[in-house]
Amino acid sequence: MTAPTVIPMNESPLASPMPRQAAVAATMESPILGTYKRAPVEFVRGSGVYLYDAEGKGYLDFVSGIAVNALGYDDTGLKTAIHAAAEGLVHTSNLYSTSAGERLAAALVAKSFADKVFFCNSGAEANEGAFKFARRWARNLGDAKHEIIALRGAFHGRLFGTLAATDRPGYRLPFRPLTPGISIFERDLHELDAALSEDTVAALIVEPVQGEGGVRVLDHGFLRELRAMTKARHIALILDEIQCGLGRTGTLFAHEQAGIVPDMVTLAKPIAGGLPMGAVLMTNEIASVIKAGDHGTTFGGGPFVATVALHVLDRLSDPALLEHVREVGAWFGKQLNEIAHRTSRVRQVRGVGLMWGIDVMGTAAHVVSEALGRGLLICSAGDYTVRMLPPLVATQDELLRGLQILEEVL
Ligand SMILES: Cc1ncc(COP(=O)(O)O)c(C=O)c1O
Repeated sequence: MTAPTVIPMNESPLASPMPRQAAVAATMESPILGTYKRAPVEFVRGSGVYLYDAEGKGYLDFVSGIAVNALGYDDTGLKTAIHAAAEGLVHTSNLYSTSAGERLAAALVAKSFADKVFFCNSGAEANEGAFKFARRWARNLGDAKHEIIALRGAFHGRLFGTLAATDRPGYRLPFRPLTPGISIFERDLHELDAALSEDTVAALIVEPVQGEGGVRVLDHGFLRELRAMTKARHIALILDEIQCGLGRTGTLFAHEQAGIVPDMVTLAKPIAGGLPMGAVLMTNEIASVIKAGDHGTTFGGGPFVATVALHVLDRLSDPALLEHVREVGAWFGKQLNEIAHRTSRVRQVRGVGLMWGIDVMGTAAHVVSEALGRGLLICSAGDYTVRMLPPLVATQDELLRGLQILEEVL
């Protein structure tokens, strides 16, 4: 008989009194595929801008489920909308129309440049749809017109089409060969001028504020030049507002601030208050070439999510909320710059509205983990950028509390 292995108490993860280690052990044993490095904490409830773990410890949330929970937690209006939605039909498929889907599409059209809307279930799916619609439209203009161009620092998703438009070598390399006909170019007008051939390019996809790529606010003049260039060459301009849209930058759509009219806009994240939903907004010019069967999805825009999204859209387009985001956002950015000055631990501050990134000395992961220990949730956007995406309803006092913790950590 072999002797049983004795694990010294101080080496056994389960012997540790620290919930952090227990949670790590739980993660290792989880039957969920390990595509995420999950933080060693589990939240059991939320209220306002706070999440709570099972021991009742509160965490001030500047992640918002990665820009999803714009209304914070336990919001009365959102709960009422979800209850009302549950009273009706949950799903009938896209073989039949539903009044909730029709009303949501009409509301999105009324609030935007768009004439038509395609609903799906996530951000990557919205971008995949936009790529297909752009190609379908462009092929009518020339047989070779099929290329899709994205920008340095872009993140558009991790499905095969969107992965080819996502500028993260670590995400891309293990999955080569990537989808052909999709390339990444520098955020440089001269380079793009050469790349954007009228004969071969169908679409340019751009995040007005790059999120995962480090919170980079694209210059309004740059966006306007891109719009002019793509218009003149009959290239569809797709704006990915999955992270920066729906109020996050202080206007319902981020591109409004640059004064441009795109051909398509993709949305997801906050649109249905945490339920999975994506949308592609487009002009009649694009929509007119799309025929039944060109694209599809079983769940997209079903009555349950659409009913909830109608409520969320109404709330996120409230001028008072948008004004609040602009006001506290400007103040938040100023505070971050002051923290950078006081601590000398921040190389650069970037952002707009309630979407901010700071480049830190040392790694972002270290700052994120230290903040977690002090009850503040923040996330990274690349190795050295700490990203903050508080709920849009956060008050100045709540934001100040988070900034105080961040300063302590730095
Ligand atoms: C700008 C942008 N586009 C696309 C996506 C992909 O969205 P999803 O994770 O819902 O597929 C994300 C997700 O972070 C995003 O930030």
